[in-house]
Formats: sequence, structure tokens, C-alpha cells
Amino acid sequence: MKKLQLQRYNAGQRSNHWAVVTCFVLAAASGFALFHPALFWLTALVGGPQWARILHPYLGIAMFVLFLGMFFMFVSANRWRKEDSEWLASAGDVVSKGNQAQLPQNVGKYNGGQKIVFWLFTSCLVVLLATGLLFWQAWFASSVPIGLQRVAVLLHAVAAFVLVLGFIVHVYAALWVKGTLHAMVRGTVSGGWAKHHHPQWYREQMQGQAATKVPRK
Ligand code: HEM
Repeated sequence: MKKLQLQRYNAGQRSNHWAVVTCFVLAAASGFALFHPALFWLTALVGGPQWARILHPYLGIAMFVLFLGMFFMFVSANRWRKEDSEWLASAGDVVSKGNQAQLPQNVGKYNGGQKIVFWLFTSCLVVLLATGLLFWQAWFASSVPIGLQRVAVLLHAVAAFVLVLGFIVHVYAALWVKGTLHAMVRGTVSGGWAKHHHPQWYREQMQGQAATKVPRK
């Protein structure tokens, strides 16, 4: 029997997402290694200490540029609406009751929590890029006053810390809500998943011609 599957991400969007993830993991590993000697061993992931120092800024820039692609593709679905505030008010229930929680019936493609994470990712990446350029020894640091570089180093570390927290929440939610990972791996979600977690998006998909039935593999 064929089960209803809804297309959530196309191949380009998925490739873009996983390219961002690859850059994030390598930039985070090399960045942590530069941050504290106890994390020096992480340099092994990028080819040793010299490579960690050379590659870290380029990995960060690659992540930013690749994320821009996702930003423009998903920004309109992540605009804050009043129903997101309602979702946020019921977020406690989602955590404590799991699948039994009574969710608002007007959640669109993304819920309030996902939108917060999206804007958190965006702002952290902007801060990381802007501050990172200011103390990039190989190119710009020599023409930046040392006081400004120090502030930039501090803000860079704070933004990285917040980004990692957002990342943990994002991955936890992706694994915790059964069926979500499938969206970013195969591109589709089940009709039941959409109806339960994103009822407004589900209705839109069913009303429009966008709903496609593909065989469940
Ligand atoms: C191992 C790490 C990661 C996993 C397993 C993962 C998983 C996922 C999944 C399953 C979705 C689909 C959610 C849905 O459609 O409801 C998604 C969406 C998304 N992910 Fe990730 N992700 C990871 C890392 C990242 C990183 C590092 C970033 C950016 C810094 C990122 C940015 C996004 C964005 C922007 C979306 C679109 C949804 C939105 O706008 O809220 N992800 N991810």
C-alpha cells in the first residue's frame, strides 16, 4: 500500500544543508582547538595544528556563504507570525507531554522554536564572520586597532558558544521528533507527521497541487 509522502526539501536544499553541516563541524573542531589547549587534539580532524589555523577562517567563510543559500531559500517560511507566539506558549507542554501535547492547529512549515533557532543561526553567523575578519592575522588584523581586535575575539567566542547551543537544540529536535530526519535525508515526510507537527502546512500542501504521492521505501 502506498502511503502519502509530502515533499519537504528538494535535492539542492538537502545538499546545501549537509554542506553547511560539514563546514560547521570542521570550523567548530578547528575553532575549539584554537580556543583551549585541552582541545588541541581536535586539530587532527583538519590535518594538524598548522592546517587548523590556516583553514579555520576559510571554513567559516565557506559556512557563511553556503548558509546564505539556505537563508534566502527559507527566510520567508521563517518570518515570525502571531501563531508562533501561541506555539511558544504551548512549548512547555511539548517538552513535558511529548506526543500527547495539545499543539495549536495553525503551525505552518516551521514552528516558533524552529524559527528562533533559524534567526539564532543567522545572527551568530553574521557576528562570527564580522568579528572573525577583524582579527584574521593573515589578511586584516594588522590594520585593525588592538582594542577592537580584543572586543572582536570576545564576541567571536560568545557567538560560537551560542551557535553551538543552538546546534545542540536543533539536532536534538531533529532526532527527537520521529520522522524529521527523513525530511533532510530523503526529502519527504509522512502525511501523519505533517498533520501532527505542522497542520497548517499540511492543509496547504493538500489544498494545492504540491502534494505528491510517492511510494514509501
Ligand atoms: C548533524 C547536524 C544536523 C542535523 C542532524 C540537522 C537536521 C535537520 C533536519 C532534520 C531539518 C529539517 C527540519 C524540518 O523540516 O522540520 C533541518 C533543517 C534545517 N537545518 Fe539542520 N541539521 C544539522 C545541522 C545544521 C546546521 C549546523 C545548520 C546551520 C548552522 C542547520 C540549519 C538548518 C536550517 C536553516 C534548516 C531549515 C529549517 C529552518 O529554517 O528552521 N542545520 N536540519
